[in-house]
Amino acid sequence: MPIIYDESKKIFYMHTKNTSYIAGFVSKYFVHAYWGKRVNEIPSVEAAAPYCPRGSFSACGDKNEPYISADTLPLEFPVYGNPDLRSPAFHAEYYDGSSVTELCYASHKIINGKPKLEGLPSAFAGENEAQTLEVCLHDEKTDIDVYLTYTVFEEKDAITRSVKVENNGKSVVNISKILSASVDFYSADFDMISLPGAWGRERRVQRTPLSRGAMIVDSKRGASSHQMNPFIALADKKTTENSGDIYGMNFVYSGNFTAGTEVDQYGMARMFMGLNPFDFNWRLESGETFTAPEVVMVYSNSGIGGMSRIYHNLYRNNLCRGKYAKTPRPVLINNWEATYFDFNEEKIVNIAKKAKEIGVELMVLDDGWFGSRNNDKSSLGDWFVNETKLPNGISGLAEKIEALGMKFGLWFEPEMISPVSRLYEMHPDWCLHVPGRARSEGRNQLVLDYSNKDVCDYIINTVGEILRNAKISYVKWDMNRHMTEIGSAYLPAERQRETAHRYMLGLYYVLETLVTEFDTVLFESCSGGGGRFDPGMLYYMPQTWTSDNSDAIERLYIQYGTSIAYPAITMGAHVSAVPNHQVHRVTPIEIRGDVAAMGQFGFELDLNRLNADELQKAKECVEQYKNLRNIVHFGDMYRLASPFESNHAVWQFISEDKNSVAFFCFNILAEVNGKYWFIKAENLDPESMYKEKECGIELSGAALMNIGLPIMSESDFGSRVYLFEKMN
Ligand code: DGJ
Repeated sequence: MPIIYDESKKIFYMHTKNTSYIAGFVSKYFVHAYWGKRVNEIPSVEAAAPYCPRGSFSACGDKNEPYISADTLPLEFPVYGNPDLRSPAFHAEYYDGSSVTELCYASHKIINGKPKLEGLPSAFAGENEAQTLEVCLHDEKTDIDVYLTYTVFEEKDAITRSVKVENNGKSVVNISKILSASVDFYSADFDMISLPGAWGRERRVQRTPLSRGAMIVDSKRGASSHQMNPFIALADKKTTENSGDIYGMNFVYSGNFTAGTEVDQYGMARMFMGLNPFDFNWRLESGETFTAPEVVMVYSNSGIGGMSRIYHNLYRNNLCRGKYAKTPRPVLINNWEATYFDFNEEKIVNIAKKAKEIGVELMVLDDGWFGSRNNDKSSLGDWFVNETKLPNGISGLAEKIEALGMKFGLWFEPEMISPVSRLYEMHPDWCLHVPGRARSEGRNQLVLDYSNKDVCDYIINTVGEILRNAKISYVKWDMNRHMTEIGSAYLPAERQRETAHRYMLGLYYVLETLVTEFDTVLFESCSGGGGRFDPGMLYYMPQTWTSDNSDAIERLYIQYGTSIAYPAITMGAHVSAVPNHQVHRVTPIEIRGDVAAMGQFGFELDLNRLNADELQKAKECVEQYKNLRNIVHFGDMYRLASPFESNHAVWQFISEDKNSVAFFCFNILAEVNGKYWFIKAENLDPESMYKEKECGIELSGAALMNIGLPIMSESDFGSRVYLFEKMN
């Protein structure tokens, strides 16, 4: 059994195939004993989490146990108000003005499977796939119960954690901080890996040694954001891509978050993740419950790559839902960079016709089809078709595309409102704002107040109506600004600081309703590219437009960083025109095609503007992608060379059945008389022979892994894909 409770020693064991997470009770404290490589048993919690007196500045909570101070213990769920003076996971204010909480064991239960988190995205599991432990801790004075939930995915080597607070007292509780996971380590000898970025430059891999005090990555932007991803990992100093200990946390949430470490006076490190306490307060009335979102925790001793593959496998199988979670997705063409706002039905049909000729399967109409939107200055919220551009409406256009033998997809930005719109004329109070203060515009738009159910229902009805009345097989769900002047006309004064989280709950309600009704539609999320590339969004929409930066070289970095936590199947990746619209770089179509083939392949250009040679190459890119997509999307990814560390980037994908191996090799800049570099494969069968499909070379798994394939850095922006099939 993955979860075992040793009653006599008061120890909980949570075992996955290769890892263990162990916690138990020392005195009244729920103590973290161990997280790492599998350990079947420990003699006692104290053996793994020893304690000793540290003097008067680490106070003791019980005169009978003078050796025990919460300040020096590794704690499972640190709360404010006891001798533990490190950063707490929970802080609340009670009816008497106090903010001291004291949680003691009340009960626990172990169940098969994984209960849903009400109203929140979360990983899911069948009855036999996972086990869940729920530990209930009670605060006697206020009568609140705190439930710590751990789900163990035994075969997947992952554990999820979340927290629920139930107010069984008579008075309101103001929760000002509630994190979902906190883990204490006796050592601080780690590097923190995080994924900071910016618009068009998402998820750059950053590795920084832990230092005394707090190191925080967070978002206060109302979105998980381009600037910081809700992912961190602690890696042993010696951990590399292929070996060493690493501990990851990834937040299944798309709004404000905090994550980080605190290294204390004794050299202990606390790692944590949860809702951002900044500008947050939740009034929990008597009888109410608050559930904090889920953190996915992964330990691996196979380095950064080992951790990534665990996340990839879990997200492919236990996070992304719906028809498209496990089926190959269509090759698409999107008109955004081809036309921007300047299109009509004829132009779109012509783009689709040319695309059909080279094997594209889905035509996506982007921004500009509604209201009077001919630029970004108006009409968000007015989701009715612009008949000047599209005289036959969306349904007429969709039929024309379907008649070509293609599917049709449509762009929306349903969380926004333009001040120049009919919707704003009718409902000026439907946006986030604070009365009497300026409403700052970003891209000439304001954010709809999704904490208001009327707004959510309006969007569900409006978007639903369009999807019901036309043959729409794909939706791109965009979101193009962050929250400012966060306030809601709908919420009372004492609940204003709930707005940002209530917004996310509203958004999740809208998405759940729409993806449930339109369960055959493929949804792709987008936020100015990858501004909300997080597991929360992936729960509703199985792919995300990775970045607005479509330059092949920039994409090497962006897709590398994204792959630290997220699988290739979730990354929208398109071939765009040259000179590239974001960085003005000119790259060969081969590298643009090869980079896009490592994600959800598509085009972001007008193929009518290519010459015959380029069009033929574009066609070959589509064919190549169709041959590779099952391997890339459902296989295991190995990062063999990092563009952050060298002039090269190399990825290897091994198919699910282990019979096909693809290498994507990129040379960033040419070198004169440069040295050979060798691509050494990972995890092949050393005894088997593998044959390359194009050049026919036959090599053993041992040769591919130990000698490797020699490559020369001959050209700028060089790229090559090798596909080996196992012969025996
Ligand atoms: C931002 C997206 O990332 C782009 O792909 C495009 O859809 C524009 N918005 C449209 O306004």
